[in-house]
Amino acid sequence: MIKTSELIWQDTQHQMLFRLIDDIRQEPFQVSVLEELQYYADHHFALEEAYMEALDYPQMFSHIRAHDRFRKELKQLSARPHEMSLAVRQSLSLFLEEWLKRHIFGVDKEFEQFVLESEQK
Ligand SMILES: [Fe+2]
Ligand SMILES: [Fe+2]
Repeated sequence: MIKTSELIWQDTQHQMLFRLIDDIRQEPFQVSVLEELQYYADHHFALEEAYMEALDYPQMFSHIRAHDRFRKELKQLSARPHEMSLAVRQSLSLFLEEWLKRHIFGVDKEFEQFVLESEQK
């Protein structure tokens, strides 16, 4: 059975995602940041999805679709990291940050609530 305390990983990983997204707009820019972000986001999404599957979460498919959109957009938008100007990186970073905030305070929160409620049953 999944315990509430085990969901601490979710907050920790969200903080890490915000840090990587913030690095996109820093100077000097390390192109590896974009790969790191893709790798880390994949890892984070896969873990959330594994929990959803284990708990038979009713909103699982729409939540996975949201993750897929992020994965796809991040891949497309970071296709040519060497050609990115500071302005482009700033807008990419802002876009990802806004997306992540909406996702975390929206569907991730709903999922968290579901986990807490299923523990009380
Ligand atoms: Fe998340
Ligand atoms: Fe999520």
